[in-house]
Amino acid sequence: MIRLEKIGKRYDLGEVEVAALTDVSLRIERGEYISVMGPSGSGKSTFMHIVGLLDVPSEGSYFLEDVEITQLPDKEQARIRNRHFGFIFQSFNLFSELSAIENVMLPMGYAGMGRGDRRKRAAELLEQVDLSDRAYHLPTMMSGGEQQRVAIARSLALKPDLILADEPTGNLPSDRGAEIMAILEGLNQEGVTIVMVTHDDDLGRRARRCIRVRDGRVAQDGGERDGGAAA
Ligand SMILES: Nc1ncnc2c1ncn2[C@@H]1O[C@H](COP(=O)(O)OP(=O)(O)OP(=O)(O)O)[C@@H](O)[C@H]1O
Ligand SMILES: [Mg+2]
Repeated sequence: MIRLEKIGKRYDLGEVEVAALTDVSLRIERGEYISVMGPSGSGKSTFMHIVGLLDVPSEGSYFLEDVEITQLPDKEQARIRNRHFGFIFQSFNLFSELSAIENVMLPMGYAGMGRGDRRKRAAELLEQVDLSDRAYHLPTMMSGGEQQRVAIARSLALKPDLILADEPTGNLPSDRGAEIMAILEGLNQEGVTIVMVTHDDDLGRRARRCIRVRDGRVAQDGGERDGGAAA
């Protein structure tokens, strides 16, 4: 599905240059469930932003289904991002003035779906994350776990092939985190590719493949579990 070749990301801060990612080459196959782990500042979020086409690499090539994405115009990259990728972040990034259902409807509006269809699909998605009874709540009226489930429902709005989750359980107590994991793992069983950053060793080990990042480099890829992980 995705192939990265010698991807690097540098930030030029005038006096100093920060190498957030260096020489990252790997493949992500359709249907994989991957965890990304590593110390704070090691480049995990940078990696997720680049894979998600939210940020451009300073060097290297990014292929999606053998098409080199980095060569495509921004508009085309944005279209791919909206149609094929779903994002879940540590802080839920919900619009505080919109209700749960309106937040979920938002990406469908950008994609040009009619209002009736948007509302119907959003209601189905909220049911999928067990929040039908919170559809008209504002984010401030919901718990952290509920807000994260709204964010998941929203990320599923356009049926993504790939979900990029950056510490999706980071702000949640462990029982709430387990609910989020169960939703993500259920999606993976339905064939959605999942890449998830986590600080939690137990959660990280649930993934079939664990990528360990250190100082902006891939220090280890797979091989964490008994019998070895699929690479
Ligand atoms: N916009 C930026 N400008 C300059 N440096 C940046 C920028 N964004 C990130 N960095 C640096 O790049 C490195 C990698 O950051 P990144 O956010 O990818 O780390 P991370 O592994 O996600 O950390 P955490 O676990 O704390 O979220 C860090 O040293 C960070 O300071
Ligand atoms: Mg991060």
